[in-house]
Amino acid sequence: MIARIIPVDAFDLVVFGATGDLSQRKLIPALFHRDEQGQLPADSRIIGTSRREMSDDAFRTFALAALEKFVEKELRTPENVKRFLDRLSYVAAEGTKDEGWLKLEKTLAGHEERVRVFYLAVGPDLFGPICERLGQHKLVTAQSRVVVEKPLGKNGAGAEALNDAIGAVFPEPSIYRIDHYLGKETVQNLMALRFANALFEPLWNNSHIDHVQITVAETLGVEGRAGYYDTSGALRDMVQNHILQLLCLVAMEPPSSMEADPVRDEKLKVLKSLKPLTQATLETHVVRGQYRAGTNGHSSQQSYLDELGNPDSKTETFVAVKAEISNWRWANVPFYLRTGKRLAQRVSEITVEFKPVPHDIFSRTAGPMQPNRLVIRLQPDEGVKLWLSVKEPGPGGLRLKHVPLDMNFAEAFTSRQPEAYERLLMDVVRGNQTLFMRRDEVAAAWKFIDPILDSWKESTDLPKPYQSGSWGPTPAISLIERDGRTWYEAPGA
Ligand code: BG6
Repeated sequence: MIARIIPVDAFDLVVFGATGDLSQRKLIPALFHRDEQGQLPADSRIIGTSRREMSDDAFRTFALAALEKFVEKELRTPENVKRFLDRLSYVAAEGTKDEGWLKLEKTLAGHEERVRVFYLAVGPDLFGPICERLGQHKLVTAQSRVVVEKPLGKNGAGAEALNDAIGAVFPEPSIYRIDHYLGKETVQNLMALRFANALFEPLWNNSHIDHVQITVAETLGVEGRAGYYDTSGALRDMVQNHILQLLCLVAMEPPSSMEADPVRDEKLKVLKSLKPLTQATLETHVVRGQYRAGTNGHSSQQSYLDELGNPDSKTETFVAVKAEISNWRWANVPFYLRTGKRLAQRVSEITVEFKPVPHDIFSRTAGPMQPNRLVIRLQPDEGVKLWLSVKEPGPGGLRLKHVPLDMNFAEAFTSRQPEAYERLLMDVVRGNQTLFMRRDEVAAAWKFIDPILDSWKESTDLPKPYQSGSWGPTPAISLIERDGRTWYEAPGA
């Protein structure tokens, strides 16, 4: 199928934290890709901002280095690179100081009618101060939007305070809270799979589904981000946002349309229906772990504590949660969630396991009957597998074999899959909030997470150790096996 480029209006994008890691790894390469595809209108501008004094040319050199590192060589033709770099300019300005803001005002002046995007690729402590200055300097026009990244607070109360500070300057329809998982092609495909096919919906409930598993496993450790990560941990870093968003997409009712509010209303209902964890269920439904030394492939890995250089950290690098949704569709269908660093394999996958057939008509020689499973692989090797039982060909009686109907997107669609940030940045310019979290969603997600954090704060227990390169601590296996079920480890899933 031919990719279609939907034109966007000319825009000015101001990136705060333009010389940081996110900008270098994700934003600059994503904008380049959109430009190279012909989506950026000729006179659109990208204005880098950060504390550091830097000339326009020095910022272009920084951006060029980012492209050389993160964009495929064949796309970096001299014309493409020049066109992109010509859009860039730089203003040194700080959220907490006056310097630079007049220059930013001047740079933006004269383009009040066009879409203006402020991307805050900075720590959350600067969200409030930057928004305040944007307001004071009257830079927020009718067509302005602000983009913020997680962490949106360290708990529900912190998120409310941040949202108040942003909301004092920008109205909710202009606030874009990014969860980059929602920009992944396969995550959006989850909605296509559920709502563009009549096949699944009649089965998508507790009469037919036994349970759901969501695994987001990484082989990497905390790399250069230990400072941030140690104040966050896996629950805040991955579950409060990415994994709960995936759970919402699996569990939500069909929205009336793909417009932002109908989709977000349905996700919100799911988050509000999550059964709160109590003192009793916290013990059986939640496991936190921390990686110890081990090996991944051939390389040996340090423990989290050694990597961090702090032997006392209680920060979890793994978490498993049994979540339950209290509504008619999902009563008694557990959602087992797990995520961790330094696990055996990098894989993000959703497994929907159906109930067994009500009566087995086959003889013992047919072998054990296996339940149907729908496995949605988000990364790597994006695709969908529907596991079915079929007759093993050949003589020797009717023997059953469990095989997947396998749709590998990489093989089916050979063109380059756009990165999440490409889609999301263009959605901001277009003014489409469907794939961004609304304030009440964030609050509802924290309401589920806060009791877990509170109980950990009070507990003297340490996170359960697990070896780097394993599938997490043993209690995480007990968490699901206690219910007579088992985690599906890739690649067998
Ligand atoms: C980020 C987390 O939001 O997502 C990281 O802060 C994590 O810790 C990353 O590694 C995973 O994203 P992806 O797209 O590589 O699955």
